[in-house]
Amino acid sequence: MVSEKPDAVNSSQRGNTRLSMTTKPKKKKNIIAPKGKLGVLLPGIGGAVSTTFIAGVEAIKAGIGKPIGSMTQLGSIRLGKRTDKTSPLIKDLIPLYDINDLVFYGWDIFSDNCYDAALNAGVLKSELLEQIKEPLKSVSPQSAVFERKFVKNLNGKNIKRAKTKMDLANQLIKDIDNFKKDNNLARLVMVWCGSTEVYLEKSDVHKSIRKFEKGLKENNPAIAPSMIYAYAAIKTGTPYANGAPNLSVDIPALEELAKKNSVPICGKDFKTGQTLMKTILAPGLKSRLLGLNGWFSTNILGNRDGEVLDDPYSFKTKEASKLSVLEYIFQPDLYPELYSNYYHKVRINYYPPRGDEKEAWDNIDIFGWLGYKMQIKINFLCRDSILAAPIVLDLVLFLDLAQRAGMSGIQEWLSFYFKSPMVGDQLYPEHDVFIQQMKLKNTLRYMAGEELITHLGLDYYD
Ligand SMILES: NC(=O)c1ccc[n+]([C@@H]2O[C@H](COP(=O)([O-])OP(=O)(O)OC[C@H]3O[C@@H](n4cnc5c(N)ncnc54)[C@H](O)[C@@H]3O)[C@@H](O)[C@H]2O)c1
Repeated sequence: MVSEKPDAVNSSQRGNTRLSMTTKPKKKKNIIAPKGKLGVLLPGIGGAVSTTFIAGVEAIKAGIGKPIGSMTQLGSIRLGKRTDKTSPLIKDLIPLYDINDLVFYGWDIFSDNCYDAALNAGVLKSELLEQIKEPLKSVSPQSAVFERKFVKNLNGKNIKRAKTKMDLANQLIKDIDNFKKDNNLARLVMVWCGSTEVYLEKSDVHKSIRKFEKGLKENNPAIAPSMIYAYAAIKTGTPYANGAPNLSVDIPALEELAKKNSVPICGKDFKTGQTLMKTILAPGLKSRLLGLNGWFSTNILGNRDGEVLDDPYSFKTKEASKLSVLEYIFQPDLYPELYSNYYHKVRINYYPPRGDEKEAWDNIDIFGWLGYKMQIKINFLCRDSILAAPIVLDLVLFLDLAQRAGMSGIQEWLSFYFKSPMVGDQLYPEHDVFIQQMKLKNTLRYMAGEELITHLGLDYYD
């Protein structure tokens, strides 16, 4: 394996760094250098998130847009003490692929090319799309692995047919191998940007890879299409991120296969819009020990995602993902007087006139000193796919980095990007966006052989 040290600013080069208040990583990670092209595989490539992501990358490449919201493109990272004044861009610290090296590919049940699909999604202005028409027109979806029982409100024709789910997985593997060969790609990453599938609990067939592969051959009904994509990805050594709340890669069988095949995986459900706001605000309220009586959240949205979520079975999957965040942030077991009795409700209403321009309302009933009541109202007029696109870009680049750094299995350090972060068996997920960010940046410092930052800071006053 060819390995190369990252182009990092070494802590020893910055002179008088005091180690007492920071944590020295055990060892520096060997990271394979990013060479050649990186293939980006997107199930759901005709959707609003995928097309906004691809069009965004093409616009940035063409110099007519900026990667706002992307940590890999704009984020900096402090190294050493504050007095060192060393804060390089993340992409200068750690060897990431350049966005000019990304090549797109994907599957959808509708066969529109990316230009037509982006126009149809209605997120980006047609004048912008016109300027990047050529690269967008050149990306057309492959036929999808799809079963209507998992996404009841959609009906497309661009669908693979086969006798068994294992045959479908093999067709996907063939697609992936051909794409890699035909485009002479060095590496691949897959991000599920397909619709939210109906609610499914983990069952016996998900318990081990042996049972799962038997289930694929026997068409077990508990194996959803998104699991077949995840299986195909991991079989081909491709890192996999799940942008939707359905289980997909979040089952022991695929975690086992990911470890065995040295493949990093992460999920679930991109953290955008209302839940992003929740995980920004809730840690602040908790940090000041303000109590909570209730948090009512409602949304209207009119895109295809909204149409899919209009089906109660798909909504149930989304609801479970959206509800879990407060429980973990407020820790009612530790603070029973403040958080053991709050009412949390989340609604999503499909309202076609709004398209992708969602509107979210939150009413938060809190209480303070001596139990006196207060209210907070939030009205977020957001654009879902505009918030999701930079997440897809960061996940592509960071998951590939993880693989080049020899990391495999669940990548908890990427929790920052998800509503329901996947974590190891014995752990609860971390939802506080600020802790998630610290975890992410410390992981990057760790990979670069830099000291981890604890924010203690007493040594400045010695
Ligand atoms: N900010 C956001 O937009 C956001 C945030 C969190 C999660 N998500 C999730 O990301 C996913 C994509 O969101 P979107 O707004 O782009 O939705 P969308 O409906 O616009 O796009 C989803 C696409 O997936 C396709 N699809 C469905 N099943 C498929 C399959 N089995 N194989 C291939 N293609 C399939 C659909 O035809 C559609 O084109 C959804 O699951 C959504 O819940 C989105």
